[in-house]
Amino acid sequence: MSERGNDFVVVANRLPVDLETRPDGSHTWTPSPGGLVTALSPVLESHQGCWVGWPGVADAAPEPFRTDAGVLLHPVKLTESDFEGFYEGFSNATLWPLYHDLIVTPTYDRDWWHAYREVNLRFADEVAEVAAEGATVWVQDYQLQLLPGILRQKRPDLTIGFFLHIPFPSADLFRQLPWREELVRGLLGADLIGFHLEANARNFLELARRQGLDVQGEASTREVTAHIRLPQGRTIGVGAFPISIAAKDFAAFTGEEKGDVAKLREELGSPQRIILGVDRLDYTKGILQRLTAFEELLDTGALDPEEVTLVQLATPSRERLDHYKATRSKVEEAVGRINGRFARVGHPVVHYQHRGVAKSLLRCYYRMADVMLVTPFKDGMNLVAKEYVACHDDGSGALVLSEFAGAADELSQAYLCNPFDIESVKAALLNALKALDDAPSTMTQRMLTMHQQVTEHDVQLWSQSFLGCLRQAEEQGAGA
Ligand code: ADP
Ligand code: G6P
Repeated sequence: MSERGNDFVVVANRLPVDLETRPDGSHTWTPSPGGLVTALSPVLESHQGCWVGWPGVADAAPEPFRTDAGVLLHPVKLTESDFEGFYEGFSNATLWPLYHDLIVTPTYDRDWWHAYREVNLRFADEVAEVAAEGATVWVQDYQLQLLPGILRQKRPDLTIGFFLHIPFPSADLFRQLPWREELVRGLLGADLIGFHLEANARNFLELARRQGLDVQGEASTREVTAHIRLPQGRTIGVGAFPISIAAKDFAAFTGEEKGDVAKLREELGSPQRIILGVDRLDYTKGILQRLTAFEELLDTGALDPEEVTLVQLATPSRERLDHYKATRSKVEEAVGRINGRFARVGHPVVHYQHRGVAKSLLRCYYRMADVMLVTPFKDGMNLVAKEYVACHDDGSGALVLSEFAGAADELSQAYLCNPFDIESVKAALLNALKALDDAPSTMTQRMLTMHQQVTEHDVQLWSQSFLGCLRQAEEQGAGA
C-alpha cells in the first residue's frame, strides 16, 4: 500500500474510527462520535483520499490501513499527557467554551497552550510525510488551528484549506484568548478559511481588521468574495460553507425498515406521540433544558404521560471533564425524577440511553419520532436536525429547533425556540404537537420544504463548493 504520495489529504483530530480494546485484550475499530466524522466520511470515500487523525485512545499508534470503502487512515499517536493538555485541556476546556460563547467559563492555562502547539507540530510532521508534492491538504476544526501556518512553512508546495466545524465567536470574546495573535497567524497559513455561516466569517474578518490586517470584501455563502491580504503579498480567501449530510443515505425507507419503525413504536408502548432527542452528552446541547420543559408540561397537565413519551439518546463525550460530568449527572437526575413523578412501573415517560446506537437503528428512531427536539444553546450547524428532516421524505413529523443552531438559518420551517427561555421551548413543543393534530397538511408542507432544502444542499455540495473555492483561492493567492 502506498502511504506516501497522496494528492488529497484530510487532517482532523479524530479518525472516523476509534480503536477499542475488547475484554479479551483483542482490538477492534468502532465509529467515532460527532458531526465532523459524519460529514467527512462520505467525502473521503468519494475522493479515495487519506485521512490523518488520532485513533481515539492515548498511547496507541496502529499502523496505517485502508478501510473497506477505500480511505487510507493514517493514525497519529497522542500520549496520555497530550490527551490531557491538548485534547481535554486547550481544545475542550479552553477553545470549545470560548467559541461557544462562554456557556461555561474557559480556562486559560500556559501548559495546555504548549501542548496544543506541540501536537499541532506533530500533526504537521505526519501530514508532510503522506502528502504528495503539490497535494491538497484540508485541515479540520478547532483542535488544529496552528496547522495551516506550520504546514505553509514546512511545505510551501501544498494547497491548504481550513474548515471550522464549530461557531467562531465575536472579536470581543475572542480577544480574551492570551494566544490570540498566534492562533490567527496559524489560520492564515491556509489559502481558504471556511466557516458554517456568514455571521461566523464576519466575526473572523472583524477580528482580522482589529489585528491591523488588510481585509477586502464581505463574506458570502459558497463563494469567496472576502480576502485578507498579507503584508508579504499572499491573499487568503474567507467564506461560509454550511455543512450537511449525505441526505440520500437517510431517505427511502424500505418496507422492511418501515416494519422495524412500527416495531420500535410498539416496544415503547405505542404512545400517541413520541418526542426524540439525539445528542453527544455535551453542555452546549441543552438536554437538561428540554427535559425541564417536558417536565413542566407534564406538571401542568398540558401533556398527558399516558399519551406522550420522550426518548433521549445520548452519546458519551469527553467524560473526564468536570462540566461534562456535571451535565451528565443533572440529566440523569432529571430523567429519574420525571419518571418517578409521572411514569407507571413498566411504562417510563422518558426513555434514556447513554450509548451510541448504530446508524441503521438511528434512522428508525428518527423516522418514528413525531417531534424532534434539538435545543442547543449554541451549535456550529447541528447535523442531527438535518438527519431527522432527511428521514421524513414522506412529510411526516415536526422539528423543534434552537435559534442558536447554525441549521436554523436553512431550516426556517422548523418550530424555532430560544433554549435560554424554558417557556419558549415549551411553546414550540406544544405548538408542534398541536399542529400535527390540527393542521396535518400544513405540517406535511413544512417538512417537505425542509426535506428539499437538505436534499439539494447535501454534503457533496458542501465539499465541492469548498474545494472549488480552494482551487480558485490558491490560484489568486499565488498570483498576488
Ligand atoms: P456534534 O458534532 O456536536 O456532536 P452534530 O449534531 O452536528 O453534533 O452531529 C452529531 C452526529 O453524531 C450526528 O451524525 C448524529 O447522528 C451522531 N449521533 C449523535 N448522538 C448519537 C447517538 N446516541 N447514537 C449514534 N449517533 C449519534
Ligand atoms: C464536534 C467537533 C469535532 C469533534 C466532535 C466529537 O463535532 O466539531 O471536532 O470530533 O464534536 O468530539 P470529540 O471530542 O469526541 O472528538
